[in-house]
Amino acid sequence: MSNWMLYGAYGYTGKLITEEAVKRGHQPLLAGRNEEKLKAHANQYNLPYAAFNLNDPIEIEKHLEQVDLVLHAAGPLTFTAPPMRKACLKTQTHYLDLTGEISVFEDTFQQDVLAKQAGIVMISGVGYDVVPTDCMACYVKQQLPDATSLEVGLNTGGGSMRASAGTLKSVLEILSNGNLARRDGRLTAIRLGSHVKTMPFRKKDLLTIAIPWGDLSTAYRTTGIPNITTCIALSRSLIRLLQVAGPIGPPLLSITPLRRLLQFLIGQVRKDKKSNLAHKGQTEIYVRATTDDGRSAEGWLVTPEAYVFTALACVRMVEKVLAEKPSGAMSPAQLVGADFVLDIEGCQRFNG
Ligand SMILES: NC(=O)c1ccc[n+]([C@@H]2O[C@H](COP(=O)([O-])OP(=O)(O)OC[C@H]3O[C@@H](n4cnc5c(N)ncnc54)[C@H](OP(=O)(O)O)[C@@H]3O)[C@@H](O)[C@H]2O)c1
Repeated sequence: MSNWMLYGAYGYTGKLITEEAVKRGHQPLLAGRNEEKLKAHANQYNLPYAAFNLNDPIEIEKHLEQVDLVLHAAGPLTFTAPPMRKACLKTQTHYLDLTGEISVFEDTFQQDVLAKQAGIVMISGVGYDVVPTDCMACYVKQQLPDATSLEVGLNTGGGSMRASAGTLKSVLEILSNGNLARRDGRLTAIRLGSHVKTMPFRKKDLLTIAIPWGDLSTAYRTTGIPNITTCIALSRSLIRLLQVAGPIGPPLLSITPLRRLLQFLIGQVRKDKKSNLAHKGQTEIYVRATTDDGRSAEGWLVTPEAYVFTALACVRMVEKVLAEKPSGAMSPAQLVGADFVLDIEGCQRFNG
């Protein structure tokens, strides 16, 4: 019997998750809004399916009544998370999602009291954004309990050509809110294109630039560290481009009709390209915590490619929640701890 639902099952990431879930002996109820695509996907695995869209609360609740947990993989989550979270609270269904959007993380944390009252857990970001970085933030905090600053660096070794339509649409949503860092415990606007610095990845130093990664929300809850900057390694030319275009990008993307047009175009361009996405390669995460008096702790984590990691991690997160039945809104590492990533194939952690 299925005791959990995968919503967004026929999307690029949903398909990878389905494959991993089946490999681990699960029979999730596959769900999404397009019956034709859903049926074709479910039949491949001989799994049950439920087609419903997210603008009818009664429909969502009716289907959630059948399961203990939903893993929400349809996005941008900015639009799809609110109705699902609401229905989860009503039907007492555990909620996990794949967001990378800060506003979604923050909204999920706001549900803490309601989630506890309902006896369910709500965890946003159970994919590449933010499980590996959250576990690493937890790891360096354990080594340096009085840390006051945290830097998180990502080297994904690839650009936008490796991203699915859903991811690119979500990136537009993220950028429309401008760039952010956490300063003195508060999310603080910083200029896109600012905070360029070299970070010591294991093979070589790489140039990085600050981006609004989910850890600005989650690592703050996981570690309590009040100053957090999240950065990505990019080529020098891309960094230059961001420095030039950065100041005008977010204001332009905040114009909703323009953003919608770009999202539509992304959907058209990416329609037939799903099979071209890379599954190979690795990513590397560098995390450094520092104290006010200059002491520091650092660590590195090598992971499989981001979509592959996402599928591996989120199915294990589902297993953890179903086994432990926690309650409240929390970050991934608040549930699973620093070492969770060490049990994921292809992950290796290194000390400073
Ligand atoms: N945090 C992470 O590390 C991580 C990793 C991978 C993916 N993601 C996120 O997961 C989401 C899906 O990514 P993907 O790679 O699967 O993209 P994708 O291949 O473009 O698929 C998007 C999926 O979302 C569904 N969807 C979009 N809007 C919807 C709505 N309003 N109601 C119901 N379903 C809706 C789509 O259904 P239709 O085809 O019917 O439109 C499709 O199933 C994105 O938001 C992406 O950013 C996050």
